[in-house]
Amino acid sequence: MFSTAFLDLPPLHSASGTITLPGSKSISNRVLLLSALCQGTTVVHDLLDSDDTRVMLAALRQLGCGVQEAGTTLTVTGLGGQLQHAAPIEFFMGNAGTAMRPLTAALAVLGGDFTLKGVARMHERPIGDLVDALRLLGCHIVYLGNDGFPPLRIGKPTLKLDQPIQVRGDVSSQFLTALLMALPLAAKNRDIVIDVVGELISKPYIDITLNLLQRFGILVKRDGWQRFTIPAGASYQSPKTIHVEADASSASYFIALGAIAAGGEDPIRIQGVGADSIQGDIRFMDAATQMGAQITSGPNWLEVRRGAWPLKGIELDCNHIPDAAMTLAVMALYADSPTTLRNIASWRVKETDRIHAMATECRKLGAQVEEGADWLKVYPLPTEQTTSSITTPPVIAKASHAAQKLGQWQPASIHTYDDHRVAMCFSLAAFNAAQIPVRIEDPKCVAKTFPDYFEALFSVTQAEVHHIPVICIDGPTASGKGTLASRVAQALGYHYLDSGALYRITALAALQAGLQLDTAHENAIADLARTLPVRFEGESVWLGAQDVSDAIRTEEAGMNASKVSVLPHVRTALVALQQSFQRLPGLLADGRDMGTVIFPNAPLKVFLTASAAQRAERRHKQLISKGISTTLDSLRADLEARDARDSNRSVAPLKPAQDAFQLDNSQLSIEASVDQVLAWWKAKQPF
Ligand code: DC
Repeated sequence: MFSTAFLDLPPLHSASGTITLPGSKSISNRVLLLSALCQGTTVVHDLLDSDDTRVMLAALRQLGCGVQEAGTTLTVTGLGGQLQHAAPIEFFMGNAGTAMRPLTAALAVLGGDFTLKGVARMHERPIGDLVDALRLLGCHIVYLGNDGFPPLRIGKPTLKLDQPIQVRGDVSSQFLTALLMALPLAAKNRDIVIDVVGELISKPYIDITLNLLQRFGILVKRDGWQRFTIPAGASYQSPKTIHVEADASSASYFIALGAIAAGGEDPIRIQGVGADSIQGDIRFMDAATQMGAQITSGPNWLEVRRGAWPLKGIELDCNHIPDAAMTLAVMALYADSPTTLRNIASWRVKETDRIHAMATECRKLGAQVEEGADWLKVYPLPTEQTTSSITTPPVIAKASHAAQKLGQWQPASIHTYDDHRVAMCFSLAAFNAAQIPVRIEDPKCVAKTFPDYFEALFSVTQAEVHHIPVICIDGPTASGKGTLASRVAQALGYHYLDSGALYRITALAALQAGLQLDTAHENAIADLARTLPVRFEGESVWLGAQDVSDAIRTEEAGMNASKVSVLPHVRTALVALQQSFQRLPGLLADGRDMGTVIFPNAPLKVFLTASAAQRAERRHKQLISKGISTTLDSLRADLEARDARDSNRSVAPLKPAQDAFQLDNSQLSIEASVDQVLAWWKAKQPF
């Protein structure tokens, strides 16, 4: 997950590949409860791993269900409508509404001695309509705190099922869902009728419930959206195996991605959800198809390619896909005519006022936008590069300084309003024809539904290599490059290349292979370097199956690295490996020749200096704190010897690139150095 203050997306040019989306929360918790209520064993694939599903699983275990986890597969052995024991149980529901409501209904119908509690916020979330309905049915429930709210205590019911059960449908559809899932427990010899009072909201979610009930053997009869009948004799039957669909709202970003950017041979393949999905938001497919996407589908997958280009502007009533429809507003930027989204009043009361947010941020990108109480009209931006910008890369003016040209792409820093969907939608603006980057503020807000969204995006998108930013930090040994580079990488969410480590590993591998570190063995060492099985995992460095993190950090390993690094063939052998670190969304590279040889076109180069005396002193403190005894004089002599070798060698000697900023950090704290580099970097960005 990116927890940086902002994430700069370089201009992206194409998309292809496969992504697997996280599971749907609504489906996950329903499947868990139904698996627990039926007889026998159900194997559940691709369950969402989130706070809410963990709460449900813990409760089911307390009830005596067998739950075995193996990777993304989970096996639930159901209760068969019978509780294993009669001892009182206290359940902790956290803040999981999708666990609290259905469990309350199921436990109230099963009967026992149960207490359900949650976090303070859970005790402010209403449950009165559900409790009223359950009490009418003969369930025994008392409020332990405020009337109408958890915590609750549940006893044994005296079920009265001859009258239709009434439940309100206009506050939360979860109350109806809870009854529909619990009442088959009581339908042995009579039909059970549920009447909805008031207009039922969120109907697609009731569809999910009915659909899953059917997979578990319960065929509910539905009369409009007013009356639901569970037929006499209904009983849960395990489907044996069930796959949790991926989240259809999350799929919308990748469907749009395919329509905008999968113009080559390969499509975007979305694993985990298909056209026959039971989630309402899957109908986003139809809207995207209308705009020009080419979509094919099979069991649990979708493939999306670019069809019409530019996309086609549409006018659409979006009431049935309120969440996914936000994605259409960004697709509209790539269309041939304006797009109008209607009947979206609910956007105004979501995580943020989404009509205002989408309009404001689309305008920042340069688009003309009109909005009303319940509609939004987005005018397109150019989908082809102008000829002048093809021959000469555009010098991008600062957004604030640029004369805002309506109808032309502008560099924009997208505010995300703590709304995951705003962040995910606007990432798609990085495909703009003007080839300008897009800044997404507070990228971690995607964690609400899709913590690894940006990682997923980068895994299926391609940028031209010169668009992927590299910041080089070169300098002599012990100048603090490593610390500075990794801190800046952290602040920007970029990858980090410690090129010195590659020379250290090469020297280690050579010595382990019995080679001396001299010219006579240059070719053999270069061969080793070319095929170095090196992996960086967090703080650890691996050479094949060997963790070499500590072995390469010694003073001796540094000296050995310096020796192999003067050998021209060894340097050449390591070039491709170093350049392969230039990946989305960007790279911080530290070493001696990052700015001069490996990434000569890097947009920011820093040359770090500090006097040998000061560097020796720092290194001395470092070693002493690790309990390694050494003297200042010998350290300084070593540093100067390495400086001399690194600076005087014939190839890629240590020297500042012509266009490098020099930073003498002798008197600077690490924070001040980081701030300086970030300030230089920000000054080069168009935002
Ligand atoms: O940065 P460091 O101390 O880990 O580097 C170890 C040695 O590797 C250094 O003395 C010179 C060499 N080196 C190099 O020649 N070029 C680089 N880009 C990085 C390191």
